[in-house]
Amino acid sequence: MVTKEQVFDILKEVDDPEIGRPITELGMVEDIKIDGDKVLVNIKLTIPGCPLKARINDEVTQKVKELEGVKEAEVFFTSMTDQERQKLTQELLSKYQSGEKEEETGTEFVKHIVCIASGKGGVGKSTVTANLAAALADMGYKVGVLDADVYGFSIPRMMGCQGQPTIIENMIIPPEREGIKIISMGLFLDEDTPVIWRGPMLHKAVQQFMTDVHWDDLDFMLIDLPPGTGDVTITIAQKFKKSQLLVVTTPQKAAANVALRVGRMADKVELKVVGVIENMSYYQMPDGSREYIFGSGGGERLARLLNAQLLGEIPLDKTVRECSDEGTPLVWNENKSPATGIYRESAKKLVEILEG
Ligand SMILES: Nc1ncnc2c1ncn2[C@@H]1O[C@H](COP(=O)(O)OP(=O)(O)OP(=O)(O)O)[C@@H](O)[C@H]1O
Ligand SMILES: [Mg+2]
Repeated sequence: MVTKEQVFDILKEVDDPEIGRPITELGMVEDIKIDGDKVLVNIKLTIPGCPLKARINDEVTQKVKELEGVKEAEVFFTSMTDQERQKLTQELLSKYQSGEKEEETGTEFVKHIVCIASGKGGVGKSTVTANLAAALADMGYKVGVLDADVYGFSIPRMMGCQGQPTIIENMIIPPEREGIKIISMGLFLDEDTPVIWRGPMLHKAVQQFMTDVHWDDLDFMLIDLPPGTGDVTITIAQKFKKSQLLVVTTPQKAAANVALRVGRMADKVELKVVGVIENMSYYQMPDGSREYIFGSGGGERLARLLNAQLLGEIPLDKTVRECSDEGTPLVWNENKSPATGIYRESAKKLVEILEG
């Protein structure tokens, strides 16, 4: 006859579909009863009426039936008490919430944090963020995207994120697109709702994205910053001490001004500049020649001034915009444009620099 331990052991292979952790680890397996060749399992749901109950039911039943000597399996559901739920979310979130010491700054869950910044608006930060995230995920890395542009969020639309965050107690579970975890103000509002928050509330929102979101373990967190060199960056830098800056610029000669602004910000918040990406570098003419619509050399110059590497020069390309508007970053539209290769190369260089 099968034992309770055997049942418990095999249930370690069943993850809670939302939290992405084994149900055994989350304290969801409340009771196991063996009755000859029949097994009864009592599962405690994190939230009553959990929409994924049927899936848990199927997976538990299937797993238990894999055991030798089991003919029948039945699952019963109860739900956690408020206290149990609080305890669980507190435990899960503790690794994101900062401690006093250096090693407890709340970022041991993520290997690299890259903030995508620019001196001015509209240069393509969000587009770069979305495409780099896609490229890194395709390389097999675990990626999260934090849209820190609370007023002008664009990540959910650009990345075609249909899902919604699940809230358990005070914990936010981010929806995913192709395995990339995404959090943005836009997931909590619809696109036509103006965000009228000011100062402290804005910081609170970004703070919450850092401390109350169950990111699980990540290789890369990409943070899409709002335009300019404002306070949000400081909030992030203070909380996530290992963050680095990736600067996006257009090719204009005025790059020196941008460098100055970004450089000043980087110094102020003690962030290292990991690289520069030049966007809208040129337009590829049908005859193969390049038209430098916005001038040239700005990215290279900026990189030199910031003492960083130029990771890539991305052409001005209609398909880049079209893919973003359609909600599937260009990188996931293989063969649509040679720019895909440039995003992938840039992602590769970024990894080389960060992983050494
Ligand atoms: N290489 C490119 N070729 C063509 N269009 C592009 C390219 N990069 C970005 N765009 C388009 O330019 C517009 C601005 O890009 P994006 O929103 O990424 O900029 P941003 O720096 O994030 O802006 P903001 O400062 O408002 O946050 C978007 O419509 C985007 O699709
Ligand atoms: Mg943006």
